[in-house]
Amino acid sequence: MPARAGEPLAAALLAAGVQVFGRSLKYHRPRGPYCLQGHCSGCLMRVDGIPNVRTCQTAVRAGMVVERQRGWPSASFDAFRALDWLSGQGIDHHSMFTSSAATNRLAARFVRRLSGFGELPAGEPRPPAPVERWQRQVVVVGGGAAGLQAARELHRRGVRSTLFERQEVAGGRLLDGSDSAGGDGQGSWARLAELHRQLEGSENLELLPGTTVVAVYPGDRLQVVAVQERRTLVVEAERLLLACGDYEQVRLFEGSDLPGVFAVRAFDRLFYLHGVIPGEPVVLCGDSPRLLRLAGDLVAAGVEVAALVSGATRPPLPAGEGAFPLVPGRLPVRASGGRWIERLEIAPAPSEPADGLFDCGCLVSEYPPAPAYELAHHAGCRVDFDSACGFRVVVDDGGRTSNAAVFAAGHCTGAMSLEQALEAGRRAATGMAESLSGGSGRED
Ligand code: FES
Repeated sequence: MPARAGEPLAAALLAAGVQVFGRSLKYHRPRGPYCLQGHCSGCLMRVDGIPNVRTCQTAVRAGMVVERQRGWPSASFDAFRALDWLSGQGIDHHSMFTSSAATNRLAARFVRRLSGFGELPAGEPRPPAPVERWQRQVVVVGGGAAGLQAARELHRRGVRSTLFERQEVAGGRLLDGSDSAGGDGQGSWARLAELHRQLEGSENLELLPGTTVVAVYPGDRLQVVAVQERRTLVVEAERLLLACGDYEQVRLFEGSDLPGVFAVRAFDRLFYLHGVIPGEPVVLCGDSPRLLRLAGDLVAAGVEVAALVSGATRPPLPAGEGAFPLVPGRLPVRASGGRWIERLEIAPAPSEPADGLFDCGCLVSEYPPAPAYELAHHAGCRVDFDSACGFRVVVDDGGRTSNAAVFAAGHCTGAMSLEQALEAGRRAATGMAESLSGGSGRED
């Protein structure tokens, strides 16, 4: 298959027309990329013999061997898909074949063959990754808008920091194309380039992309556990700044797990960064300014947009209004198709008894993201439940959490704009620098 050097494997596969990446564990439903952020499991494949590789987080290379992992006779046409149709109200595997221990053991062996995610790699097991112990004054987790801005502020104040970014390329939301054209010429890509320029070669920043922080242990000195492909780092830190971002969530309606349904940030990356449109016509669902901008840019690029379905009764109209139907006050109720979404049904309007039905080659679905609060919770920081988005880290204006050694900024503390995330990163870094120097932590 042709691919562009360095693009994510999932983008290359979608561009080449691959629709089914795998099958679900139990009912063998087709699976495909949803988030492109490494947060769902839709894109798992076997790559060069290694099972369960997130293809959206793996850069493509010439000669890669990429295989789908499940399904019989193949993941593309999987006979066990019939389980879903035959089971009616679903399979309660906890109570199946429990009449005797022997039948249960037999059934368990059969079920294990049916489910699971592929075979273990052939050959000798890989030795465990060696552990290295480091000491650092400041650790920043997350290289998105808030994290990079915090690193920049720390650098400006002469504080050395170590920044762990899970993805291979730092940038987070600053990489999103729908924010790239700021009206003042300060769109997200320009800001990212500016931050890179300011931080390039900085002795105050140790940037480690491709590093996932998996745990934080509170104590006299915080212990941060970070995992890379070939080693595990246990870092003792004086201060920790969490800018872990958030997770795309799935809007719930029948068929919302079909391949061809994408989170808005995933589609944003595909379109603006990689130039990939996996199917047409596109239906968009949501009403944020970025979604409206994306819809307008798709139309301007000649992509067929069937509709923008908005739950809001009076959504702000996109530029180029009239280029595609805007359907206010309605939400999707059912997506249907075989291995890929083909149609989208929306709830009927009170005045129209018939449901709306759209041909749909891709659905871009927006839903409030969930803050990534887990590491703050590990560190004993206070997290609060917000009915709009789930748990979020509680911080004051200076990014201080309830643990004096831990600061947090950006979307892990709740929903905000890109501008607000950048400002939150700056404030948290300021507060942290002040706390290290024994100051009040208040800005001058
Ligand atoms: S984890 Fe790759 S698409 Fe979600």
